[in-house]
Amino acid sequence: MQIQDVFKKIVSHSKEYGFVFQSSEIYDGLGAVYDYGQMGVELKNNIKKYWWDSMTLMYENIVGIDSAIFMHPTVWKASGHVDAFNDPLIDNKESKKRYRADVLIEEHLAKIDDKIEKEVEKAKKRFGESFDEKMYRETNPRIMGYQEERDTIHARFSKALNDSDLEGLRQIIIDCEIACPISGTRNWTEVRQFNLMFSTEMGSTSEGSTKVYLRPENAQGIFVNFLNVQKTGRMRVPFGIVQTGKAFRNEIVARQFIFRMREFEQMEMQFFVPPGEELEWFEYWKAERLKWHHALGFGAENYQFHDHEKMAHYANAATDIEYRMPFGFKEVEGIHSRTDYDLAQHEKFSGKKMQYFDPEKNKSYIPYVVETSIGVDRMFLSVLAASYAEEKLENGETRVVLRLPAQLAPIKLAILPLVRKDGLPEKAREILNSLKFEFACHYDEKDSIGKRYRRQDAIGTPFCITIDHQTLEDNMVTVRNRDTMEQERISIDALRTVIGDQVDMKSLLKKLV
Ligand code: GAP
Repeated sequence: MQIQDVFKKIVSHSKEYGFVFQSSEIYDGLGAVYDYGQMGVELKNNIKKYWWDSMTLMYENIVGIDSAIFMHPTVWKASGHVDAFNDPLIDNKESKKRYRADVLIEEHLAKIDDKIEKEVEKAKKRFGESFDEKMYRETNPRIMGYQEERDTIHARFSKALNDSDLEGLRQIIIDCEIACPISGTRNWTEVRQFNLMFSTEMGSTSEGSTKVYLRPENAQGIFVNFLNVQKTGRMRVPFGIVQTGKAFRNEIVARQFIFRMREFEQMEMQFFVPPGEELEWFEYWKAERLKWHHALGFGAENYQFHDHEKMAHYANAATDIEYRMPFGFKEVEGIHSRTDYDLAQHEKFSGKKMQYFDPEKNKSYIPYVVETSIGVDRMFLSVLAASYAEEKLENGETRVVLRLPAQLAPIKLAILPLVRKDGLPEKAREILNSLKFEFACHYDEKDSIGKRYRRQDAIGTPFCITIDHQTLEDNMVTVRNRDTMEQERISIDALRTVIGDQVDMKSLLKKLV
């Protein structure tokens, strides 16, 4: 299957089975805003639970909060978002379409990378076993040409980003002859900065209103509560505060489904450390976070770190964890060493001390911060992409199956009476009523058993049980495994433990130790 086809199928599957709907669909939708349906919300909640438990249960020095979305407007002045949370945008004069200048250049670089990889793939096929890839990359004239072109553009791009040189970015677009994908022309405007924050008014107009922002990140809610939590929780540095919640950005390029949204959700941790120790902790959290992703079993080869070309205004080290999406390796999580920037800025703007007295060092200081920040929606997309499969069966039929990790699956067990008579539905409901307190169960008696299996495969239910006439005599049911499609008879009394052990979040968390 073509890679783009896979992506299209995931999008339509998400809609068909109640995972993700376009927001306000009956009004033709709202750009880059999505709703989660009955299956989606369960999967999303399970992803959030996996993250939350992995932080608050697995580390004794991490606690959570839930701060408000609205914050005092000076928070965003202090954090630098009012002045510096910008994307460089450029418009095509013919199509009137707006693009991010940096994304146009990154896509151009990715095209050169593709050309290099295609050359290597061709050579691999040609030379077979004896192929020395490293040598070929270093000596083949065509590849060397592409590589040199790439390195030159890349160096200019990096410099322009770091210098916030908007004219320099535009010149790269002109020099590389990058055309608008819609109009095909190179008739570009100047590059301008565009602030990504949404704002609104708070208060009644008669008393005068205040301009407030919808938070573009969760982190600031943690920073302003740093001392509240440290004091009331008697926390000692190093310690972490986590929070999950909505964030809002007026993205210029909002596409690729739930990958880049205007309203999305983040799971963030700020880890407070003594000054000078932040880079060690940065490495520590890189390793911990990668372990968290790997534990899902999607294959270590599908993850990579990508160090930032241009640091955010607050960071002294930054990397992304990228996952191989159907449209290439893409950022799912950011890990940033944010220095003491945020706390120092809040001290300056609020006039309140943001210092911690360290009893071991016998001195006060503003802690440094290492942040891990993962997008729930991007994580959701990566889980769907990793799990979606189409399989040819022995009988010639095709089945669509979501091979979700059992702990994340929206429904853990489908309970299916073989027929709708002879006391089988009653027996099935009896099982449902005893297991529904343990994990999410789904009762289904409509259609043939084959059709019901297919429906459960499509939403990723790891186990189905069938209640047949024999069940009434021996109290045994047939358990069918989603992935192997193997079936075995087990006693109803054993279901709670046999299935419970495999679907419980604990079994995933245990992989982290
Ligand atoms: N507090 C740091 C921060 O917000 P970020 O790299 O801008 O850092 C962190 O965002 C994560 O939030 C990203 O790795 C991504 O998963 C998610 N994210 C950011 N913008 C997003 C958007 N427009 N749509 C969906 N997810 C987004």
